[in-house]
Amino acid sequence: MESRPELSLCDLRPEHAELRSALETAFRRVLDRGDFILGREVGGFEEAFAAYCGASHGVAVANGTDALALTLQALGVGPGDEVVVPAFTFVATGTAVFQAGAKPVLADVDPVSLCLSPAAFQAARTPRSKAAIPVHLFGHPADWDGLAKAAAGLPLLEDACQAHGARWKGRRAGSLGVAAAFSFYPTKNLGALGDGGAVTTSDAALASRVRQLRNCGRTTQYDHPVRGLNSRLDTLQAALLLEKLPHLDAWNARRRAAAERYRQALAGIEELRLPQALPGTEPVWHQFVVRVRRRDELAAALKAQGIATGVHYPKPLHLQGAFAELGHGPGDFPVSEAASAEALSLPMFPSLREQDVARVAEAIRSFYTVRQTAGRA
Ligand SMILES: Cc1ncc(COP(=O)(O)O)c(C=O)c1O
Repeated sequence: MESRPELSLCDLRPEHAELRSALETAFRRVLDRGDFILGREVGGFEEAFAAYCGASHGVAVANGTDALALTLQALGVGPGDEVVVPAFTFVATGTAVFQAGAKPVLADVDPVSLCLSPAAFQAARTPRSKAAIPVHLFGHPADWDGLAKAAAGLPLLEDACQAHGARWKGRRAGSLGVAAAFSFYPTKNLGALGDGGAVTTSDAALASRVRQLRNCGRTTQYDHPVRGLNSRLDTLQAALLLEKLPHLDAWNARRRAAAERYRQALAGIEELRLPQALPGTEPVWHQFVVRVRRRDELAAALKAQGIATGVHYPKPLHLQGAFAELGHGPGDFPVSEAASAEALSLPMFPSLREQDVARVAEAIRSFYTVRQTAGRA
């Protein structure tokens, strides 16, 4: 049998090929000018990205983890304080709380959206809670009405690292909470050609504190009234992101079309649960995560056919060594644990073609047919 080309989990080469000359021009412009740190494009990108998100201010930082930690610090969160975070997310949502000197308090996620459950958040908060970080996981907005109600005034910091452009009741991720943290890790819906991050907020004072903290805590070149980080976004990355930002909506629309194709092609497979867009949400499908039993067997079968998959995330936060001091164990967050056992990310990127989706669906169907037939024999 003729072997087919490998299908990646995420392949952004076609987008980069389309933009190659614009990216090269931006690179040359920064190289010629030489303002590599906090140069012209940093401010330009901050303004453009905040406007895109529907927020008044943007502060570009070195990565999404720092965007979270610096915002917590700017909110006055520190030692002795608690911050509620979902148990099922990328590890940085929780480690950023430690980075700010506070203690993460874990809460379980909603079984459908896999985002922080408002009821679990309500139950986890204590008088020491100073903030919560709902995650728009896989590009699906968290239930903002439910979370805002449970927050009852507690600041909500959006972890929008996977949700550039997603909407909740018409409002974009990045404009829902007191502030939002974004990552521009290369594979994100809006990715730099290296690490990058940003904070968006409509609170001018908060933006200015984050701006100070990301630049070594300085007010002038040699005045450092507070301890900050060196967490600046390179001018070069800002220049590249400025070239990419105008394409984000079109790329997200292509992800949505691919998600719709998956939905049709995978309909009716009993063993497989498809991700759903909850009413009022417009997800941006950073990942297309199905839930299956015997996940690892299916992943191996797809791999044998040249189809890459991913597992986001194989271990919830409470079972990671980094969170051992919280004293949790298996069984503490059952929805997160079930998601970790069942989640399988299928190939998802803007240039994923109709025939790629059909190929994945056919491979999944044949996996289940073969198993059923074998079961009957
Ligand atoms: C949900 C979530 N939070 C935080 C981060 C951290 O972002 P970064 O890798 O840019 O530090 C990421 C990115 O990987 C993420 O997906």
